[in-house]
Amino acid sequence: NKQIPIPGPKGFPLLGNINDIDSEVPINSIELMADNYGPIFRLTVLGSPRVFISSHELVNEVCDEERFTKAVSQGLREIRNGTNDGLFTAEYPGEENWAVAHRILIPAFGPLAIRGMFDEMYDIATQLVMKWARQDAGTPIPVTDDFTRLTLDTIALCAMGTRFNSFYHEEMHPFVEAMYGLLAGSGARARRPTLLNNLPTSENAKYWADIEYLRKLSQELVDSRKNNPVDKKDLLNAMILGRDPQTGQGLTDSSIVDNMITFLIAGHETTSGMLSFLFYFLLKTPQAYKKAQEEVDRVIGKRKITVDDMSKLPYINAVMRETLRLRSTVPINGIHAHPTKNKEDPVTLGGGKYALHKDEPILLVIGKLHRDPKIWGPDADEFKPERMLDENFEKLPKNAWKPFGNGMRGCIGRAFAWQEALLVVAILLQNFNFQMANPSYDLRIKQTLTIKPKDFEMKASLRGGLD
Ligand code: HEM
Repeated sequence: NKQIPIPGPKGFPLLGNINDIDSEVPINSIELMADNYGPIFRLTVLGSPRVFISSHELVNEVCDEERFTKAVSQGLREIRNGTNDGLFTAEYPGEENWAVAHRILIPAFGPLAIRGMFDEMYDIATQLVMKWARQDAGTPIPVTDDFTRLTLDTIALCAMGTRFNSFYHEEMHPFVEAMYGLLAGSGARARRPTLLNNLPTSENAKYWADIEYLRKLSQELVDSRKNNPVDKKDLLNAMILGRDPQTGQGLTDSSIVDNMITFLIAGHETTSGMLSFLFYFLLKTPQAYKKAQEEVDRVIGKRKITVDDMSKLPYINAVMRETLRLRSTVPINGIHAHPTKNKEDPVTLGGGKYALHKDEPILLVIGKLHRDPKIWGPDADEFKPERMLDENFEKLPKNAWKPFGNGMRGCIGRAFAWQEALLVVAILLQNFNFQMANPSYDLRIKQTLTIKPKDFEMKASLRGGLD
């Protein structure tokens, strides 16, 4: 196979392509460049090149864990100031703590354990229903804000054994404020020269104070559970009591704190973004909305939703998959050649067609992968949950739908998020009829670590109470 150069926009000598990327919503520029340059292109930012890939063929190739593995980006490296080698930010291979924590926590996120968390998820979901039921039918609901309250309170209850009570306060819990401080601060630090990050500025002082607060409160919650044990199968107990089947080791307190903060970070925006996009798509696609609501009415009716209902809602399940296909809330995944298993330098892609330096980051543009016409056909841009019903979903080629990352570094919280979201969609459709607050609203994106709809509001009117 003859090698061909990887295309991409020409940059400026020092800055590279920095001006080619929208600073507010980088993913918009990336997706546009994928349209212009094709399934593989290269950008250089401040001297570091990186390659973006977006066809199923190329993504499928790099999902081979014998050749490639997760790359911890500069942004994630900064988040490590708060979470160290917690699951999401660990450099593995290299940091063995990842493997220990992974083995201890896999059963805690398994199907049985997640079933055990249903009641707590239900508790928080009903708080959202109450909030929306109390307000006037015409009140515009800031959809993403309320879903974020829900996902934060749910993960805090299940992972930290504590209640943020976000539905009862205008301001967010101080833990949440500090977590946003860590996330926003880490993003800003990743874009600045290291020298500036080490200066004694008030911004830097606040960043470190936020981290100190997050860790102190987390440690207090660990101590409190250790001093007052409860017989519960939640994530906090799994972290405190779990033992690695391979080494017999438990997690140190510091590692528990790392992972507590990690779950809060990884487990809230992703799920609230998915729920927000889902309601946007349902409101824009009335026939899908109708089918989803009919499913709830048929399977559950007006009675209380139970954990057994969760496996009986195939259409809503398909709506969730289709939502993540069109708007994967984690829009980019970073990988690079496996540091020990890969033997190629340069690394080749596309069956030898493209050559990359062995350390060059490869970024998977998930939104484009999810619209590859070779897989999804000419109507790839349309919201059609039917294509995601089990019988069709199971026939998809490997690695065609990848909103949860890859292989062993894929999302550990997938079943958690799925049950939480399925319950919330079902309970909301059971209790309310929804409309767009502004019927002419068209999707705009807000991007942080994840993406979510910007300024999306809807109105809810009660359908009549539960029996
Ligand atoms: C990793 C997506 C919900 C915990 C990931 C990754 C993706 C992802 C794409 C891989 C990141 C990478 O390669 O750098 C999602 C989506 C969610 C969701 C779309 C919801 C719809 C959750 C929840 C939790 C969670 C609810 C916790 C309760 C984690 C953790 C990792 C991870 C700990 C790191 C795993 C490791 O490397 O060992 N998630 N996630 N996620 N997610 Fe999720």
